[in-house]
Amino acid sequence: MAFIINAASKEDKEGTMVKRSSSPNHNPATAEPRVHQRGRETQRYGSVTHAFHLELEEPVRLEMTEQLNQLLADSMTLRDLYKKSHWQVAGPTFYQLHLLFDKHFGEQVEIVDAIAERIQLLGGVALAMAPDVAETTQIERPPRGREEVPVQISRLLDAHQIIIRDSRKLAERSSKLGDQGTNDLVVSEVLRPNELQSWFISEHLVNSPLVYATEETSKAAD
Ligand SMILES: [Fe+2]
Repeated sequence: MAFIINAASKEDKEGTMVKRSSSPNHNPATAEPRVHQRGRETQRYGSVTHAFHLELEEPVRLEMTEQLNQLLADSMTLRDLYKKSHWQVAGPTFYQLHLLFDKHFGEQVEIVDAIAERIQLLGGVALAMAPDVAETTQIERPPRGREEVPVQISRLLDAHQIIIRDSRKLAERSSKLGDQGTNDLVVSEVLRPNELQSWFISEHLVNSPLVYATEETSKAAD
């Protein structure tokens, strides 16, 4: 093990050979990579650091980071739902939806990053890994297999609805608690893009004729 190899020996004042401390802090610099390392967590999930410079009380930052993590988990799930839809879409509208789903995926990547970094900025710990996200999200899990386009879009709209609802609640709550930074982020970078994306995909569920106009009621009755 690299740890033992690098534990150098030296003489103490009495001339006795002693082993150098095994603490990593006393290990000499080396070009050898120290691989397979593990250590204790430096910050527990669900906690916040002091961050006195933000002038936001700890209970406020605790509440904000908790609610932002919920928004983060749901946004990460929606992001992945867009990629799933991008890959698995089929039918006459394949090309158009294939591109649109990937565009929205890219925008959700930006949203996810903005939320996660706000959590860290507030002294919290952002959720990151898929199993933790799966345990936290409120969005219904889709099957692994492919589904029809109307079902794909309906799932995406349901996910948007959850995020839009929670964004409005969080915007209101953050404003009330004096966290205008979170309020601005949620309104500008989460709520509005989600409203826009949901409009773009919801129009695909309108049963609109492609070639023949619907006959007028009076003519149809003849
Ligand atoms: Fe792609």
